[in-house]
Amino acid sequence: MKILLIGSGGREHALAWKLSLSSHCEKLFIAPGNAGTETLGTNLPIKITDFDALTTSCLENKIDMILVGPEEPLVKGITDHFNDNPETAHIKVIGPSAKAAALEGSKAFAKSFMERHNIPTAAYKEFTAENYDEGVSYIQQQPIPIVLKADGLAAGKGVIICQSHVEALAEFELMVMRSKFGHASDKVVVEAFLQGIEMSLICLVDGKNYLMLPEAKDYKRIDEGDKGLNTGGMGAVSPLPFFTEDLRQKVINRVIEPTVRGLVMDDLEYKGFIFFGLMINKNEPFVIEYNCRLGDPETEVIMPLVNNDIVELLLATADGRLSEITLDIVQKSALGIVAVSGGYPKDYVKGREIEGLDVTFTDSLLFHAGTATKNGKVVTNGGRVLVAVSLGDDMKEAAELSDYFLQQINFEDMFYRRDIGHEFRDMKDV
Ligand code: AMP
Ligand code: GLY
Repeated sequence: MKILLIGSGGREHALAWKLSLSSHCEKLFIAPGNAGTETLGTNLPIKITDFDALTTSCLENKIDMILVGPEEPLVKGITDHFNDNPETAHIKVIGPSAKAAALEGSKAFAKSFMERHNIPTAAYKEFTAENYDEGVSYIQQQPIPIVLKADGLAAGKGVIICQSHVEALAEFELMVMRSKFGHASDKVVVEAFLQGIEMSLICLVDGKNYLMLPEAKDYKRIDEGDKGLNTGGMGAVSPLPFFTEDLRQKVINRVIEPTVRGLVMDDLEYKGFIFFGLMINKNEPFVIEYNCRLGDPETEVIMPLVNNDIVELLLATADGRLSEITLDIVQKSALGIVAVSGGYPKDYVKGREIEGLDVTFTDSLLFHAGTATKNGKVVTNGGRVLVAVSLGDDMKEAAELSDYFLQQINFEDMFYRRDIGHEFRDMKDV
């Protein structure tokens, strides 16, 4: 098969690596890709939302399958665009329809979906300029902390956890009345703050069946000790020792199955990955968010743990045969550390030469995120630059291997956390 992968981050390099191992993958294209994906297939310089250019390229390159990495093309309807065009309808697009991708594209839509299908989540109300005054009194009556969420996509920045009513009211005004996140915050979801441990769960959904991938956790804060600004993710681990059989069953019964049934009941066409951002409080799961795609950097630790041929999983997804698949999971701990450009998640410099990329280790992989090739050299091209992922007999070993890997690599102002997976490092046999 000829496969087109859309995206350019660490998630996409990990997917490109996994796709390139498949016996079904005859040719791989990545749009636009990065310096890492370039070593595994052909990078196409096409914007992820330029559906017309993607269509032309798919026809030229006789593409059979498209795997969509990021949310933006999904929310903007890439799947419908290909399915609705008779010239491209034969291409299997892995990713939900725009209507279903609204589970990520609109927080208010996701909350009403959860309410309708009795899926545990934080109590909430939604507000716009029209019922702004009601919003002000609602916020004043709620306990602190309180969470404000821009309804639409806001490049991962649209969630604000407010520690006082004064802060919440100021943010509420900025979002609704002063377009802090453009039209994305015309509507705001105000919700209760959930305590607990956060985790990520990703499933493949084929329209009626689901297949649960190994659970994971990402580390969002820039600094060690989970302090400082929020980022796209500074590292990830999988599996999680606290995700016991009992908790797994609760998540299946209360979250995954009602979600998949809800998609069917609400006529939301869904063939792709679905991401559940969960908060576990006293062994009870609550959904914080849905994403209509794989997580990043969760994908980088999950892919090396899955032995199955990924194209077989994707074909089963497209053809509604996921119930026939059994996952074959490596019984090891995976831990990924993200190396970022100094200054990230604020301003940072791009274009710095990266040294040490020829180093290889048996139990580790190096995925590129924000990299590009310039004059034959690999240079930094984003905030998150590289992700070193290792498999170990326990988290401590995996952490040491990934840390050692990054010690071999250098670019000016490179920074990474050395405490990823800290809470799981002393546990054996996870
Ligand atoms: P999101 O953009 O929806 O992923 O939210 C960003 C982060 O905000 C989440 O990963 C959580 O850490 C945090 N968050 C969102 N909603 C809540 C909530 N209701 N209670 C506690 N933390 C939350
Ligand atoms: N790591 C969380 C996400 O991809 O949204």
